Amino acid sequence: MEQHLTVGRVAELAGVSVRTLHHYDEIGLVRPSARTAAGYRAYSAGDVERLRQVLAYRRLGFGLREVADVVDDPSADAAAHLRRLRGLLLEHRDRADAMAAAIDRELEARAKGTAVTPEEQLEMFGARLYDAIGGAYPATRRTDSRIAAQVWDALGDARTVLNVGAGTGSYEPPGRDVTAVEPSAVMRALRPEGSAPCVAAAAESLPFEDQSFDAAMAFSTVPHWQDPVAGLREMQRVARRVVVFTYDPSEFAWRRRFWLTRDYLPEAGGLADATWLPRLADAIGGRAEPVLIPWDCADGFLEAYWRRPEAYLEEHVRRACSVWTRVGPEAEQRAVRSLRDDLASGRWAERNRDLVGLGSAELGLRLLVA
Ligand SMILES: C[S@@+](CC[C@H](N)C(=O)[O-])C[C@H]1O[C@@H](n2cnc3c(N)ncnc32)[C@H](O)[C@@H]1O
Repeated sequence: MEQHLTVGRVAELAGVSVRTLHHYDEIGLVRPSARTAAGYRAYSAGDVERLRQVLAYRRLGFGLREVADVVDDPSADAAAHLRRLRGLLLEHRDRADAMAAAIDRELEARAKGTAVTPEEQLEMFGARLYDAIGGAYPATRRTDSRIAAQVWDALGDARTVLNVGAGTGSYEPPGRDVTAVEPSAVMRALRPEGSAPCVAAAAESLPFEDQSFDAAMAFSTVPHWQDPVAGLREMQRVARRVVVFTYDPSEFAWRRRFWLTRDYLPEAGGLADATWLPRLADAIGGRAEPVLIPWDCADGFLEAYWRRPEAYLEEHVRRACSVWTRVGPEAEQRAVRSLRDDLASGRWAERNRDLVGLGSAELGLRLLVA
C-alpha cells in the first residue's frame, strides 16, 4: 500500500506551518489525497511532489495565483518543473550575488566617507539586471557574421572604435583598435581572454575626452540604459561617428510583424515606446537603415528565431534575452504554453505559412548611423 505522510510530519519536514498546509488545501492548491483513520490529512508521494513545486515557486517570489497556474500547466512534467526551478534559482543566486557585491561597494564607499549618490543606490536594480542574467548570456549570444558585416561597414574607415554596453564583446570589429565599456561586473568577467580592454562605466557618463574615437558603436544595449538620449549624446561627444543597433517598436514594424510579440507576448510591446526610434534619431541627427534577420541568425536576441519557433520553448534561449525577465514569470509561462500548444496543433505553421521559404526577415531591427 502507498505510504502517506501526516500533515504534521509534512509540515515538519518542509519547515512550514500546519496552518499553511491547511490553507493550501482549502484553496485547492495542494489537496492531500487521503485521510488517516483518525481523520487527519495524509499526503501521498504525488501530493508531496506537488507541494514541493508549490513551496519552491513560492520561495522564488511567485504569488499563490501564479503558482497555481504554473503547477497546473499540463504540458510541464516533474522534470520540466525541476529544470525550470533550477534555472530560476540560479538566476536568483546571480542576482543576490550582484546585490551583495553592490552592497559591499557601498559599505566600502561609506567607510571611506565617500558620498553614495541616489543613482548609485538604485543601480543594483537597473543596469545590474545584467549581473543577474549575465551567466545565461554566452550560451546563445554571439556575433552573427551577416549582421556584423553591416555594422562594420557602417563604421566606415574608423581605426579607433568604442563599443558601449559591450557585454561579452560580440560584434567588436577585428583589425581595429577597440575599447569596450560595460557597467556589469558579471558581463565584464564573461569577456573571453584576449578581447579588447574593457572599462567599467555607463553610457550616460563616458570617461573619455571629446572626440577620442573615430567611431562609437552600441549593439542591443540602448533600451537598457537609464537615459538613452544622454548616452547617445555622450557617444557623439567622444566619437566622430555613431552606429547603434536597435529596433523600431512602432506598431507596424515590430509589434505587428513579429509573430512572437504579436500573437504570444503582447506584454513586450507594452514595455516599448512607439516614439523610441525617432527620438533617438533626432537626438543625434541619425538615419535608420533596416537590418534583415537571417533565418539561421547566430545571435540569440529576441527576434533571432523567427523561423525556428521551437527555440523559444527552451529555457536557456529565453534566459539570454532580458525581455522574458522583464515581462514577468506569468506572461512568460502563458506565452510559452500557448506557443507549445500551437506548434503541436499545427496552428503556428498555419498562421505563419509565409515564413517557411524566407531566407531573412524585416522585423523592425534598425541600424542608426550618425
Ligand atoms: C543585450 S546586452 C548586449 C551586449 C553586447 N552589446 C552584445 O551585443 O552582445 C546589453 C548590455 O548593456 C549593458 N548596459 C546596461 N545598462 C547600461 C548603461 N547604462 N550603459 C552601458 N551599458 C549598459 C548591460 O550590462 C549588457 O551588457
